[in-house]
Amino acid sequence: MRKKRVRDVDVRGARVLVRVDFNVPMDGRRITDDTRIRAALPTIRSLQQRGAKVILITHLGRPDGKVVETLRVAPIAAHLQELLGTPVTTASDCVGPDAERRVAALPPGGVLLLENVRFYPEEEDSDPEFARRLASLADVYVNDAFGTAHRAHASTEGVAHYLPAVAGFLMEREIDIMGRALSNPEHPFVAIIGGKKVSDKIGVLNNLLEKADRLLIGGAMANTFLKAQGREIGTSYYEAGAVQTASDLMAQASAANKPLLLPADGVAATALDAAAEYSIVPVDSIPPDRMVVDIGPETSRAYSAAIEDAKTVIWNGPMGVFEITPFAEGTRKIAEALARVQGTTIVGGGDLVAALEQAGLAGQVTHVSTGGGASLEFLEGKELPGVAALNDA
Ligand code: 3PG
Repeated sequence: MRKKRVRDVDVRGARVLVRVDFNVPMDGRRITDDTRIRAALPTIRSLQQRGAKVILITHLGRPDGKVVETLRVAPIAAHLQELLGTPVTTASDCVGPDAERRVAALPPGGVLLLENVRFYPEEEDSDPEFARRLASLADVYVNDAFGTAHRAHASTEGVAHYLPAVAGFLMEREIDIMGRALSNPEHPFVAIIGGKKVSDKIGVLNNLLEKADRLLIGGAMANTFLKAQGREIGTSYYEAGAVQTASDLMAQASAANKPLLLPADGVAATALDAAAEYSIVPVDSIPPDRMVVDIGPETSRAYSAAIEDAKTVIWNGPMGVFEITPFAEGTRKIAEALARVQGTTIVGGGDLVAALEQAGLAGQVTHVSTGGGASLEFLEGKELPGVAALNDA
């Protein structure tokens, strides 16, 4: 990465404000997936070992600029303390007297987690005065919140204008691995795109259609492509407003002589329910009263074969409604095929992290991105404001 990194700065005795993305899924006060917290540990530990005073700041949820009791960061601090094995203190606010007192009390190597920064409307408004107040707590700013790097907010972008600003280890890894795959991939380069909507992923589809050697389409968005081919898709979800886009993408792929693979069969169910009746059907005979909820076994085999010889694979979005066990098979088969690939395998955040964990395969891919929206924007080829604001190397 062409940005200055946390390893490049001397932090001994310095107060270091680290923007992390601890926006983790919670069930009440229980953290249901701590991937993002664990992913930030290398930066935190390195700063501790080098004698920095570590001041962490994150958002949690979307409190819309108000204090929401259920979105306080206390459970995250408790969990982080367990993971680090060293004390993590908290402040009742992210700026102001309590935050200042807690920072002043930090010993070298100490860790403080400030309160949810989105309790202030100034955060999302990227208010310069609020960014300056955040900056006044520290001597150095580290952005390790890749998952929020697509937001130009006070704590992700604004604060970088007031302090030496560098990338943390997680940010560096995300940008380096995904950046290399996009700018200088080893071929064959295969992109697998799933999920619900074509319209959410149009930028990614366009960019990867240009860069990858093959494009495999799954998830409900495949229905929109099947519709564009003039097929009857029963009661399957599809996006009427994106049928033309799907058609254009197929035309572009064909003009560029690039394989764009669509499902040959699917799991057709009577409802989006684990108890629903379902059967495997070819895509040219989807029953009128059924919906396609997953790719079928023939498609799984064809897609697995299409990634077998890949040297680079980027996968974004599930192949079916994997949250419902009978419809998880397609996503699981692709995850297994990905785990066998002898090359760089990158899984772009969001839902797929849970699907990979569920299949016990998260450890078998080169990189699982901690970004949902951020990895989508990165794969679209956009510059992320949280990265752009950091100091150049
Ligand atoms: C995410 O979960 O994708 C990030 O934490 C960003 O959250 P946001 O979409 O609420 O900005």
